[in-house]
Amino acid sequence: MSEQNIPEEALQEAQDIPPEFDGEHPIRIRGLTNAFGEFKVHDDLNLDVKRGEIIGVVGGSGTGKSVLMRSIIGLQIPESGEIEVFGRNITEAEPDEEIGVRCRWGVLFQGGALFSTLTVAENVQVPLKQFYPELSQELLDEIARYKVVLTGLPEDAAAKYPSELSGGMKKRAGLARALALDPELLFLDEPTAGLDPIGAAKFDELTRELTDTLGLTVFLITHDLDTLYAICDRVAVLADKQVIAVGTIPELLETDHPWIQEYFNGPRSRAAAQTHESGKAIDNPDGGKA
Ligand SMILES: Nc1ncnc2c1ncn2[C@@H]1O[C@H](COP(=O)(O)OP(=O)(O)OP(=O)(O)O)[C@@H](O)[C@H]1O
Ligand SMILES: [Mg+2]
Repeated sequence: MSEQNIPEEALQEAQDIPPEFDGEHPIRIRGLTNAFGEFKVHDDLNLDVKRGEIIGVVGGSGTGKSVLMRSIIGLQIPESGEIEVFGRNITEAEPDEEIGVRCRWGVLFQGGALFSTLTVAENVQVPLKQFYPELSQELLDEIARYKVVLTGLPEDAAAKYPSELSGGMKKRAGLARALALDPELLFLDEPTAGLDPIGAAKFDELTRELTDTLGLTVFLITHDLDTLYAICDRVAVLADKQVIAVGTIPELLETDHPWIQEYFNGPRSRAAAQTHESGKAIDNPDGGKA
């Protein structure tokens, strides 16, 4: 990523939007079509993401989950359709205008992708330096340290290089970088892929806790059924080039789409549901709402 400075007007643009988005849907997508040559990935796709929710995005491999996320954050130019983020039309935004909105979200890309030649703290500082070039090194170090600890890493992880971290620690470091700019919107693409079940469950807990305490809205792409049951408020299902259903898992189970039935009624899903139910019973032995 380049360390180009952000034009003053673009940051002003960002400040024109209320600091806390008070609309109901930080993300609204209408009629989205994405194609690579003749190959259509999305065709007339619609989706609304509610403020404050963790929305899980599922679908078979290659159904276009990552491309959907890239469209929302302006890295993939759609063939047609509208995408509003915080009430701004991203698809029509001028690059400078888009930058203003861009500092209000954080992204953990599929695979993590930390800069291997930078320490964890330096990785966290990349977006800070890009958007706030006037910050002193002392303040940058202070913010980076805070973000590192916020994601549950030991303080000394800040000085380490990615190659010195375990897979789970790398994910946390990636999350620390995604949180660098105090975003309201967080995009996580397969955050628990490659983690052992305990590490994945801990990462899920962290995601839920940060969402609630920081008031985030989270767009979470995952294949992990445990994650869906444990922390997602709603789930959006991608199939047939569209979002074919959005709702809570019980709501999705009422639809008769074969992929949804196979996915949520398969043995792995039932096991995840059972684990989740028994976990709730232990947390809350009286049976009240957890
Ligand atoms: N830059 C690109 N050029 C051409 N085709 C692409 C490009 N990016 C994605 N695709 C194609 O678009 C389709 C959707 O890709 P995408 O990465 O969104 O899938 P996904 O749902 O995230 O899959 P996975 O679960 O495996 O991560 C795939 O067929 C992929 O090959
Ligand atoms: Mg993907």
